[in-house]
Amino acid sequence: MIPLKQSVEGCFATRAGAGGISEDQFKTALAATQRGTDKIRQAVNHPDWPLLRLPGETSDLMSLGDIAGLIRNQSDRVIVLGIGGSSLGGQTLAALAPDWAKPQVIFTDNLDPLAFADLLTATDFKRSTFIVISKSGGTPEPLAQLVATLDAFRARGLEDDIGARVIAISQPGDNPLRRLAERFSIAVLDHDAALGGRYSALSCVGLLPAAVLGLDIAKVRVGAKAVLDEVINTPDSGPAQGAAAVAALAEDRGVTDLVMMPYANRLERLGMWYRQLLGESLGKDGKGLTPVAALGPVDQHSMLQLFLDGPANKLITVITADIEGAGPPLSRDLTDDPALTYLSGKTIGDLVAAQGRATMDALCAQGRPVRHIQLTQVDEASMGGLMMHFMLETIILGDMLEVDPFGQPAVELGKTLTRDYLQKT
Ligand code: PA5
Repeated sequence: MIPLKQSVEGCFATRAGAGGISEDQFKTALAATQRGTDKIRQAVNHPDWPLLRLPGETSDLMSLGDIAGLIRNQSDRVIVLGIGGSSLGGQTLAALAPDWAKPQVIFTDNLDPLAFADLLTATDFKRSTFIVISKSGGTPEPLAQLVATLDAFRARGLEDDIGARVIAISQPGDNPLRRLAERFSIAVLDHDAALGGRYSALSCVGLLPAAVLGLDIAKVRVGAKAVLDEVINTPDSGPAQGAAAVAALAEDRGVTDLVMMPYANRLERLGMWYRQLLGESLGKDGKGLTPVAALGPVDQHSMLQLFLDGPANKLITVITADIEGAGPPLSRDLTDDPALTYLSGKTIGDLVAAQGRATMDALCAQGRPVRHIQLTQVDEASMGGLMMHFMLETIILGDMLEVDPFGQPAVELGKTLTRDYLQKT
């Protein structure tokens, strides 16, 4: 069963007035998604598209679970070294576990010298495990963190523990990460060379950290598979409809920014993951859409003013879960103040659900298009489904915009310059 329900009704002029598209515009765009959908269908069993194989893959789950079990047993803290696509998928899934889950899993994606030094100082190396993830095996940020970590093991007289307390994920073949791994007897899991970082959440890259937190990684894939199957088996799938709405709004209503605004803390990292997916995949050849990550209801007090009354160039995707009745109840005797009676006898879930609904209605009333994605609950299956939905939608959009959604050629110059600057000092 598809673990999410998408409605693009709020993108139509009938709901969003002048900011919305017509039925005909949507239908034209939907017809144009067929080529991208066909590409996905044809690529399902192609070795260059492991993204489409992973949802149905089960053979690796047991060994991932075993490795995660070993890590859990020996760790109070797990530190994941990796950046971009080698971190955000794991972070997104890990956000399903509560903050106080054990072991504590920390993602050190942003390289900050002082924060990293503090983290190493505050870490008990005898009760910690480091997972270093780099597909290329040569990215400076995780490599610098790994070198500093290995040195910290040595400084503590724990060099012999490195093989048991560091695990790496990298693509096959020679690279700096694999060479360091060999030197210190660090086990390396294979990262499929054909799987781009931002499309890797359903592989060991995202699933190992999730499994360490005790999450049900099989369900992540089940949710993703349901969405993929829909794309393969039906003409106007959810991702195709989403891509059509985005493309029509961009073409006919000047939409340039795609805001993702979930109403659930556990979906906050999804916004950051989506930012990378959309930004790196489609921002090419002078084309692309600008992703904006927001969170409800907190951003009603920060970004919503802009969304409602700023430039009319945004599509806001609101993601809600069925949370009516959830969370602490608000007792009647404490809410008998006339200004608070609307809360009386309700739950915090009732309040947040009403806020999500009100935001969507207010946006439409203001002529701002809205897409609504509804989840029954925020769990492993719905997260897998959401991630697959947006990956496929992005690939279809890439086809419509005629850009290659894989690779990120423009960032290479900055990497080369960084190396040059360091070599000259
Ligand atoms: O999506 C991508 O491909 C990038 O964001 C990479 O994940 C990121 O640059 C890290 O690369 P690597 O995994 O090779 O260290």
